[in-house]
Amino acid sequence: MVIKLDNISKKYENSNFNLEKISFEINTKEVIGIVGRNGTGKSTILKMINGLIPYDNGHIIYKNEEIKNMSEEKLREMRKNVVYIFQNFNLLEGETVFYHLSLIYKLNKQKINKIKIDEILDFMGIKHLKNTTCRKLSGGQQQKVAIAMAILQNPEVLLCDEISSALDINSEKEIYNLLIKLKETTDISIVIISHNLTVLKNFCDKVIVIEDSTIKEIITPKKSETLDYDKDYFNNVKEFLLNG
Ligand SMILES: Nc1ncnc2c1ncn2[C@@H]1O[C@H](COP(=O)(O)OP(=O)(O)OP(=O)(O)O)[C@@H](O)[C@H]1O
Ligand SMILES: [Mg+2]
Repeated sequence: MVIKLDNISKKYENSNFNLEKISFEINTKEVIGIVGRNGTGKSTILKMINGLIPYDNGHIIYKNEEIKNMSEEKLREMRKNVVYIFQNFNLLEGETVFYHLSLIYKLNKQKINKIKIDEILDFMGIKHLKNTTCRKLSGGQQQKVAIAMAILQNPEVLLCDEISSALDINSEKEIYNLLIKLKETTDISIVIISHNLTVLKNFCDKVIVIEDSTIKEIITPKKSETLDYDKDYFNNVKEFLLNG
């Protein structure tokens, strides 16, 4: 087990929002989905795991340490291993792909490892875009840069907050295939917040459903045996449009 959440509760000041009894484990090499309506607290859960916002009660344990008790320095160290890719992550429009990856080294006051950067760009299939300025990239390409920045740090856990919500079905498929390739070639654990049930069904080992301020159920999805992603997507849309 990499991270354990035990009976977490969270309220925001001056808000009716209330999250309670959130308990689950993130195990090595596991892909976990989180689904729920807008405003149910999905991003809040990832931010609490990443020590970006405090929780009121309960425990979040990473390597035998309570996140809440970590010093700023400890939190910074933890965030190299538990990397949160933000919902609506923005790249610097005027800077190149290479600049963004080198930024990770600069922020950590490390020497830039150009070989490692090339390896990651190759892995993500965007090596040809290395010297391209980010304003010239498509949404899917920008998202790949954001993921490349995250995995450059060899994280143990990747927290993905709706990283594909603005992408078309093929770009989305590419992104998740890359995440699966990452899972198969490393010991990484991945948490995915997504509203796309097809993604959750086919990529996740377990899916946490948030409703009425808590975890309604943790479901082990049955993967489609012959996955035709586009057809599945169509059926999903059709079912949704036709059912009340
Ligand atoms: N810093 C904050 N202060 C007060 N309320 C907040 C704060 N951040 C979030 N909220 C509220 O807490 C609730 C949960 O927000 P959160 O972003 O976790 O939801 P979410 O499930 O990720 O939603 P979405 O699907 O729209 O991304 C929302 O009602 C939101 O308005
Ligand atoms: Mg959110």
